[in-house]
Amino acid sequence: MGTCHDRTRFHVLKVIFLACVFLLAAIASTLSKNSAKSPNHKKIVGPNACAECHKVETEVWKKTHHFTTFKKMPRSKEARKIADKLKIKRIKSESLCLTCHFTTRIKKKKKKPIAGISCESCHSAGKDWEKVHSGFSGKTEKTESKTEEAARWKKVDKLGMIRPAAVYDLAKNCYSCHVVPQEKLVNVGKHPAGSSFELVSWSQGEVRHNLWYSKGKNKKASSDRKRILYVTGLAVELETALRAVAVATKSKSYAFKMALRADAARKKMKRVASSIPQAGEIAAIAELGYSAGLKLNNKKALTVAADRIAAKALAMIEKYDGSTFGGVDSMIPNENKYKGKPAK
Ligand code: HEC
Ligand code: HEC
Ligand code: HEC
Ligand code: HEC
Repeated sequence: MGTCHDRTRFHVLKVIFLACVFLLAAIASTLSKNSAKSPNHKKIVGPNACAECHKVETEVWKKTHHFTTFKKMPRSKEARKIADKLKIKRIKSESLCLTCHFTTRIKKKKKKPIAGISCESCHSAGKDWEKVHSGFSGKTEKTESKTEEAARWKKVDKLGMIRPAAVYDLAKNCYSCHVVPQEKLVNVGKHPAGSSFELVSWSQGEVRHNLWYSKGKNKKASSDRKRILYVTGLAVELETALRAVAVATKSKSYAFKMALRADAARKKMKRVASSIPQAGEIAAIAELGYSAGLKLNNKKALTVAADRIAAKALAMIEKYDGSTFGGVDSMIPNENKYKGKPAK
C-alpha cells in the first residue's frame, strides 16, 4: 500500500514539477521577447563591413542625425551641461550615454565607440548572421532554390538579425532609445525624456533606405505596410511608456512626462481600436492601457500590462498584413509630417 501511495505522490509531484518547468520556460521566453535589444558589443562588425555590399544604404545613412551625432553630440554645449550635472567627465567613455548615442565595440576589454547609431543599432550585431544572410545558401542568387532561400531567412532570424519584416522588433529598437527611461538622467541631468516619436513619420523621412531590392530607388513603404507600422508603433509606444512609468520613483518631471506620454498613447490606441473594430488584438491593447494606474509604486501592475500589450502586438502582426486596416488611414501622418527628407 505504502509504495502505491508513494507512487501516486511521486506522480503528482512530477506533474507539478513539469508544470513549473513549462511556466518558467514561458516566462523566460516572454522576457526575452520583451527586453530591449541593445546589440551585443562583442559581435559588432561595424558599418564599414556592411558598406562593402550596401554602399547606397550607407550613403543615405551618412546624411542622417544617426550618423552625425557621433562627432556633434560630445562636442555640443548641451551635452556638456548634461554631463556636468551628472558629474560625468568623458561622455564617450560613459556607458550611460554610449547605449543610445553610439555603436560600441569591445576593444582590449574596453567599450569603444566606433560610430553613431548605425546599421547594427537597428538590424542587430552582425557577426553571427552577416555571412549567412548574404550567402545564398552556398549557391548564387540564381541557383538557390525557393526552399533554400526560405530556410536561409529562417536561420538568419534565429541568429538574431532584425529584418524589415520584424516590425515589432524594429519598433522596440527605436523606442529603446527614443524614450529615455533613466529617471536621474531626466530629473538631474535635464536630458530630454524622449522624442515625440511616431514610427511612420520617423522611419519614412531621412532614415528611409529602401534601396536594395529596388536597385537604388528609395521606395516608399506600401500603404498596407504603413498601417502595420503605425499600429505596431503605437502599441510599442504604449508598452514603452508604461514600463517607463513603472520605474519612476519620484514625483518630479520624469514621472509626469512619462505618465502624460502613456496617457496620450492609450487614448490614441482607443481611437485606433474603434477605427479597426474587427481586430480584437487592438481592442485588447487599448483596454490593457487602462488596466494599470499611472502612478508611483505600481511597478508590478504596469509591467504586467506592458508584457500583455507586447504579446498582443506580436499576435496582431502574425495575423494581419494591413490590408483590412484602412480605418486608420486618416490618423497616419502624411508626407509633410515626415522627419527629414528621404534621400532620392
Ligand atoms: C557580402 C555582401 C553583404 C554584406 C557584407 C552585408 N550584406 Fe546585407 N544583404 C546582402 C544581400 C546579397 C542581401 C539580399 C539577399 C537576398 O536577396 O536574398 C542582403 C540583404 C540585407 C537586408 C534585407 C533583409 C531582408 O529581410 O530582405 C538587410 C536589412 C541587410 N542586408 C543588412 C545588412 C547589414 C546591417 C550588414 C552589416 C552588418 C550587411 N547587411 C552586410 C549582402 C550583404
Ligand atoms: C535612453 C537613450 C538615451 C540615453 C541613455 C542618452 N540619450 Fe541623449 N538623446 C537621446 C535621444 C532619443 C535624443 C533625441 C531627443 C529628441 O528627439 O529631441 C537625445 C538627445 C540628446 C542631446 C540633444 C541633441 C544632440 O544630440 O545634440 C544631447 C546633448 C544628449 N542627448 C546628450 C546625452 C548625454 C550626455 C547622455 C549621457 C549622460 C545621453 N544623452 C544619454 C537618447 C538618449
Ligand atoms: C534607425 C534604424 C536603422 C538604421 C540605422 C539602419 N537601418 Fe536598415 N532598415 C531599417 C528599417 C526600419 C527598415 C525597413 C524600412 C521600411 O519598411 O520602410 C530597413 C531596411 C533595410 C534594408 C532593406 C531595404 C529594401 O530595399 O527593402 C536594408 C538592405 C538595410 N535596411 C540595410 C541597412 C544598412 C546597410 C544600414 C547601415 C548603413 C542600415 N540598414 C541602417 C532601420 C535601420
Ligand atoms: C541606439 C539608439 C537609437 C535607435 C535604435 C534609434 N534611434 Fe533614432 N535617434 C537616436 C538619437 C540619440 C537621436 C538624436 C541624434 C542627434 O540629433 O544628435 C536620434 C535621431 C533620430 C531622427 C532625427 C530626429 C530629428 O530631430 O530630426 C530620426 C528621424 C530617428 N532618430 C528615427 C529613428 C527610427 C525610425 C528608429 C528605428 C527604426 C530609430 N531612430 C532608432 C537614437 C536611436
